[in-house]
Amino acid sequence: MTATITRPAWTIEFENETIDRLIDKYTPHIPKKRLQEPTAIATAEELENFYHFRVGGAAHDLFIVQVVANVIDKIPDPELQLFLSRQLGDDGAHAENTRRRVEALFGHDPIEDIQKQVQKHWDFMGDIPRRGWLGFLAFELHYEHHIVAIGSLNRRLSRLYDPQSSSFATARIIPDETFHRAGVAEWWLRKFDKASSTEKAELAAQVIEADEEVQRRRNPYLKEHEKISRRALGIEVEETGVIYDTWRQEVLSYFLDIPVSQLPKLVSIDD
Ligand SMILES: [Fe+2]
Ligand SMILES: [Fe+2]
Repeated sequence: MTATITRPAWTIEFENETIDRLIDKYTPHIPKKRLQEPTAIATAEELENFYHFRVGGAAHDLFIVQVVANVIDKIPDPELQLFLSRQLGDDGAHAENTRRRVEALFGHDPIEDIQKQVQKHWDFMGDIPRRGWLGFLAFELHYEHHIVAIGSLNRRLSRLYDPQSSSFATARIIPDETFHRAGVAEWWLRKFDKASSTEKAELAAQVIEADEEVQRRRNPYLKEHEKISRRALGIEVEETGVIYDTWRQEVLSYFLDIPVSQLPKLVSIDD
């Protein structure tokens, strides 16, 4: 038996509408649009904070490159391999651009600091991303989808920025990342929508288990990275954990075709 597919396509409009709805519902004090123009980073302290923030960003992208390079020949699905080759190239280009911007600002190549942070991702993630398609899906969901709402909040709330990094993000990173999230959704739905209802229930339980394991492993890092981001971007609004948690529910609801109200209670970013 095949269930009727009721999901909209995974698009930037779908993401923005969903995130706006969650912010209205759970954190109505946060404005939907930026209220004031941010100021370019200038002081020694602002630059120092920005260094840690961008090294963390480059490490996120380089970790994706290392994981994808590891699994690309282990999942025998040529369509997925073509998608992954693009993701690997794009996220590599994001890491390289960040590295070179930091080098221009600080006068030294931060590649060793970036790799140190990448190693931390390997340490807390362990072999999950390489543990077959299930672990790999949980990795993709966490490194591409679940972080989107926080990124969107940061863009509304930030008071400091680096104009060059922002232009690259607008021209390249944002459209690439939208493509990555849609690509992962398409890959997954090709597989999931062919399954019977019984198989779907089993798959959903397995995906949730793997996704929960990654959430628990990532929580200390997410907390730390949030502090680094807030400091670098001059963000004062707290209590955004509820937006991370409720957005993650929306992602799982979409991928697993389960209404949010019927999902089990999930690990929170604040646990
Ligand atoms: Fe990226
Ligand atoms: Fe990406």
